[in-house]
Amino acid sequence: YGDASQKIDYVFKVVLIGDSAVGKSQILARFARNEFSLDSKATIGVEFQTRTLVIQHKSVKAQIWDTAGQERYRAVTSAYYRGAVGALLVYDITKRQTFDHIPRWLEELRAHADKNIVIMLIGNKTDLEDQRAVPTEDAKEFAQKEGLFFLETSAMEATNVEDAFLTVLTEIF
Ligand code: GTP
Ligand code: MG
Repeated sequence: YGDASQKIDYVFKVVLIGDSAVGKSQILARFARNEFSLDSKATIGVEFQTRTLVIQHKSVKAQIWDTAGQERYRAVTSAYYRGAVGALLVYDITKRQTFDHIPRWLEELRAHADKNIVIMLIGNKTDLEDQRAVPTEDAKEFAQKEGLFFLETSAMEATNVEDAFLTVLTEIF
C-alpha cells in the first residue's frame, strides 16, 4: 500500500463507534493526518475525514465517519451507518465499563448496518498498560465468539492504528 492522488477505484465508508473518551477521534486523527492531541474535545454530531491508499494496486478512498459516544451529542443513527462497509468498535483498555458496553454497540451496529459489514474490535490506549482494566484475553475471546477482528492500539504512540484500518479495508475488498 501507499498514497495515491489521482484516480479513485473505490470509496469505502468506515464508521467509528464506542463510548465517549475511548479515543475514536484521536484514532481517526492518527490515521488521517498522523496527528494526536491530548486535549481532544468530545465530538458533537458527525465528522468525517478521508485518506486515499493503494491496496492491491487499486486506489481506495477511505471515508472514515466519527460520531459522539455521548448519547445527547449523537446524530441520527440510521444515516450514520448507511452505506458503511467497515466498522471500528472501540473501547478503552483502562476503563472496564467501556468494554462492558461493547455488546450494546454491536447490537446497534447489527441492527442498522449492512449484514456483511467488516467489524474490528479495538482496545485503545495500550500506552497506559499500568492502568489496564481489560485483559487482552477477555477481548480476544469476545471477538472470536462474535466473529470480529481484534487489535489493541495506542493512538498516542501510533501503535497498530494503521494496521487496524488496513485490515478492515483489505477485508472489504
Ligand atoms: P467522544 O467524541 O466523546 O465520543 O470521545 P472519543 O472517543 O472521540 O475520544 P477522543 O478521541 O476525543 O479522546 C478522549 C481522550 O483520550 C483525549 O484526552 C485523548 O487525548 C485521549 N486518548 C485518545 N487516544 C489515546 C491513547 O491512545 N492513549 C492515551 N493515553 N490517551 C488517548
Ligand atoms: Mg470524538
